Amino acid sequence: MSKDSVTIQRAEVEDAEVLTETCKKAFDSDSEFGAPGPGGPPGVDSIEWNIDKIKNRHLHYYKILEDNEIVGGFIVGDRGLNYQVCERIWIDPDQMRKGMGTKTFELVWEKYPSADLWVLGTPEWNTRTNPFYQSIGFVQIGKTRDYSWDGIYYEKRITDGFPEAMSRIEDIQDRQPRVIVEGKVENIAGPRTVSSRKTGEELKVADITLSDETGSIKLVLWNKQIPQVKVDTNIRIEEGYVKAYRDELQLNVGQWGMIITLL
Ligand SMILES: CC(C)(COP(=O)(O)OP(=O)(O)OC[C@H]1O[C@@H](n2cnc3c(N)ncnc32)[C@H](O)[C@@H]1OP(=O)(O)O)[C@@H](O)C(=O)NCCC(=O)NCCS
Repeated sequence: MSKDSVTIQRAEVEDAEVLTETCKKAFDSDSEFGAPGPGGPPGVDSIEWNIDKIKNRHLHYYKILEDNEIVGGFIVGDRGLNYQVCERIWIDPDQMRKGMGTKTFELVWEKYPSADLWVLGTPEWNTRTNPFYQSIGFVQIGKTRDYSWDGIYYEKRITDGFPEAMSRIEDIQDRQPRVIVEGKVENIAGPRTVSSRKTGEELKVADITLSDETGSIKLVLWNKQIPQVKVDTNIRIEEGYVKAYRDELQLNVGQWGMIITLL
């Protein structure tokens, strides 16, 4: 088997069983590369989970083939034209370390020619994925703490210069979706407790002043998001969205949003 005959195709429901098998095998082998125990990420051994992801219109689920045999999978989190997320990649352990993971990324990048920014997170402990992502040009930009694991967050900028996918604070507009912005946490007001209008539940909310060289914006954080930021640190928000309230722009971290503490 060789990396030169690797191809990728969109996965279909009929592929779910084999994909689940290879996925479970691949992630089980993480126990040799720093995993605190068996398990792997959610759904790793569930055919239903994989069927659900194959059908999910926000994800692009690919099977990795070598001579028509499934040797792994790649799940893209589809974020639009210029920014994409590698949600998951795996190669059957029998085929690892033959350049197939690298070749798969090259094939995926070809499918998204307008994406100038690719991002992903991987657990800090993983002594295999960290060198792998670095070997294909991903650069560590920071850390995330909103998963069950402490994550290293990587990006790969495909073109030179400031990525189209990102905004400077002065360019942020009302109702802008999918905001990716970096800035310094100048101030944290709160948290204060408010009651949800819908459920009456008590919620904690804090107003953060985030600034870059072009300006400042109010970032509104809720509950578990609040302890993720500290004054005087630089952070990046991904999948933020903007709403004006009493003529003031407010940046929020959406359901799929991320807070990344930059290095
Ligand atoms: C991470 C993974 C996809 C890499 O796939 P692969 O096809 O084996 O990777 P490649 O052969 O293209 O390796 C490219 C480079 O990555 C690095 N690398 C890969 N595996 C490595 C390992 N076990 N230890 C150290 N470096 C490694 C090396 O620099 C390697 O180049 P080299 O072989 O010339 O030294 C595969 O190990 C895997 O499926 N892991 C389990 C699932 C997982 O953790 N997925 C990622 C998280 S979503």
